[in-house]
Amino acid sequence: MRRNRFRLLLAAWPLLFPLLAVPSFAQTAETVCIQCHGSQPGPLGAPVAAWRTSIHAANGISCHNCHGGDPTDMANAMNPARGFLGAPKENDIPAFCGRCHVGVKEDYLASAHGRALGHGGPQCVTCHTNHAVQKATPDLINSQSCSRCHDYGRAEQIKAAVVETDRRITEVDRSLADLHRTGIVTKEMEDELFSLRNRFHRIFHSVDVDKVRSQTADFQTELQKIQGHITAIEAQLQRRKVWGGVVVALLVCWGIVALLVFESYRKEK
Ligand code: HEC
Ligand code: HEC
Ligand code: HEC
Ligand code: HEC
Ligand code: HEC
Repeated sequence: MRRNRFRLLLAAWPLLFPLLAVPSFAQTAETVCIQCHGSQPGPLGAPVAAWRTSIHAANGISCHNCHGGDPTDMANAMNPARGFLGAPKENDIPAFCGRCHVGVKEDYLASAHGRALGHGGPQCVTCHTNHAVQKATPDLINSQSCSRCHDYGRAEQIKAAVVETDRRITEVDRSLADLHRTGIVTKEMEDELFSLRNRFHRIFHSVDVDKVRSQTADFQTELQKIQGHITAIEAQLQRRKVWGGVVVALLVCWGIVALLVFESYRKEK
């Protein structure tokens, strides 16, 4: 999970320290794309600052991963022969982003939004922006963003279905983190939750109120199962704590008795 990556980062902190002196991060090396565009004024330079704030930058997805080209060759960086794709036109954006987000692309293309691509429907960038893409949350569903083209009513229904499950995912995630801190191996459950979270945040793109509602019920059942495991482990830990306390108390009593016996034995002598 992302938390693991964070932990890794913490462990590697002393090693990373010298690298932090330069403005870029270890994962997102200072490519020729960033160097040249970073020094350009206006719309050619703006993507660099916006991208630095993004979840893509944080995960090592750089200019050339989206736009293609050669990030090591200043003179030929934007040569189509080196795989440079340029900037996609509006209608090509779902395929452009969908190279990596395959499942989202499929759900989107099959939806009312995807079917309206090119005649008034939103595409990925309409909702996520192009360069400053942030972690996806239900907050992206809001009246300001979703009533640009139609009324907010149907959007609000989808949000209501999504928010409750999202809250429970966060809750279970926190319980897992707590368990992990006590030294319990939680990897399997974390992987399960990670996959669930991704599948769950995807279903939004169908923008189908009934589908989101029915799938939300399935996700709740899955979450309940993980929550059940966690509760069982917590109960076991609690029992262990109680028995540990009993054993310590017994040992202490035994020690006192031994001491008394020893003392009386010594006095008798
Ligand atoms: C030496 C400077 C320089 C380098 C290196 C450079 N660019 Fe550019 N880039 C420009 C300039 C100038 C333009 C605008 C003129 C043009 O399109 O050729 C541009 C335009 C672009 C566009 C917009 C094209 C369009 O179709 O509108 C994209 C996307 C882009 N660059 C991405 C990249 C990527 C990715 C890299 C690295 C693989 C890169 N650039 C390397 C200077 C540079
Ligand atoms: C997540 C994929 C992604 C990444 C990473 C990315 N871009 Fe883009 N970029 C796009 C998309 C999509 C467009 C087309 C935007 C639109 O039409 O709204 C675009 C458009 C552009 C343009 C055309 C002008 C504009 O703003 O529309 C330039 C120049 C550009 N990008 C440069 C860069 C540079 C430099 C980087 C690295 C700092 C970068 N891009 C990183 C997806 C990306
Ligand atoms: C109408 C607005 C809208 C459009 C269009 C849209 N998204 Fe989303 N996207 C959202 C919202 C809202 C969420 C968060 C839903 C949630 O939290 O349940 C999201 C979530 C995501 C996620 C996170 C899901 C995961 O697996 O963790 C990704 C990735 C994503 N979108 C990529 C895309 C791509 C790629 C496209 C274009 C093919 C696209 N989105 C089109 C609004 C949109
Ligand atoms: C080269 C592969 C690649 C391309 C192309 C790409 N992404 Fe991503 N994207 C990633 C990776 C890797 C992550 C971080 C891991 C994750 O969360 O899935 C990510 C994360 C995201 C997230 C946050 C998901 C979350 O977990 O909350 C959204 C939203 C997103 N991308 C949207 C887009 C949009 C919009 C485009 C097109 C403009 C795009 N991506 C293009 C690889 C890519
Ligand atoms: C760029 C314009 C645009 C934006 C922005 C937009 N939509 Fe839509 N939306 C459409 C179009 C076009 C349709 C298809 C015609 C219709 O049903 O009104 C649609 C349809 C829908 C539907 C009905 C789907 C169905 O199968 O009946 C829902 C629900 C929806 N949008 C939710 C959202 C949400 C949530 C957001 C914000 C995250 C959003 N929309 C943002 C243009 C947009």
